Amino acid sequence: MAHKIAAANWKMNGDLNFVKQLTQELLANQTIINSNQSLLLASPFLYLHELVEATKNYKQINIAAQNCAQYTSGAYTGEVSADMLASIGVTHVIIGHSERRALFGETDAQLAIKVLLAIQNKLKPVFCIGETLAQREANKHFNIIEDQLWHGLFQLSEADFSQCIVAYEPVWAIGTGVTATPEQAQEMHAYIRGLIAEKYNDDVAQATSILYGGSCNEKNAATLFSLPDVDGGLVGGASLKAESFAQIVAALNK
Ligand code: 13P
Repeated sequence: MAHKIAAANWKMNGDLNFVKQLTQELLANQTIINSNQSLLLASPFLYLHELVEATKNYKQINIAAQNCAQYTSGAYTGEVSADMLASIGVTHVIIGHSERRALFGETDAQLAIKVLLAIQNKLKPVFCIGETLAQREANKHFNIIEDQLWHGLFQLSEADFSQCIVAYEPVWAIGTGVTATPEQAQEMHAYIRGLIAEKYNDDVAQATSILYGGSCNEKNAATLFSLPDVDGGLVGGASLKAESFAQIVAALNK
């Protein structure tokens, strides 16, 4: 059975005081839960070291970066490598978020390299996939998702793929207040699990955590997380309020 995860993607929000306060509130509110569940906090690079320290006594809280470089080291001004992240105790890295793809022009080929570098450095990739509204309206969403998986993740060996978490984040649902319906989410998550089973095998597919992202909040989390193929959420806006996120974490039990 797949591990259940409530993941917070803080994106580029908050200054140091905000992050300290939010972390304190999250730790005070944290309701974790059972051994098959965990919480993941993805913060800007700047705060990662502090977050790793603040959460080191909480075994079921892991810290993620929101990106990593496609290079190992060298003259790449402004970049942060997977090796650097691992060296400070970061355990996960979001790769291929739609904002990175759309705003920073990250391509499938670059993402495939980042995934490999993450795994080589023992970081677990949280690989994001999702279609735009135009692609869904043109009924291309299944093809898009399949392409993103084949080009970004399915080059991995079974052992390496088993380190990955998949996040289905329909672009039209991110930051819009429009959440995928339970039917849309379940249909796509089941499709993704089916693709993983075809490429690898059923055991790998059943063990892969497939998270839903896109206007997931304290009101809809319980419904989404109760779907058979939704193993938790990757949450943006609602993860910036400790009280809302605590309710989302608690929804893992639903
Ligand atoms: P929102 O929850 O703000 O829609 O963002 C989702 C997301 O992009 C998480 O990575």
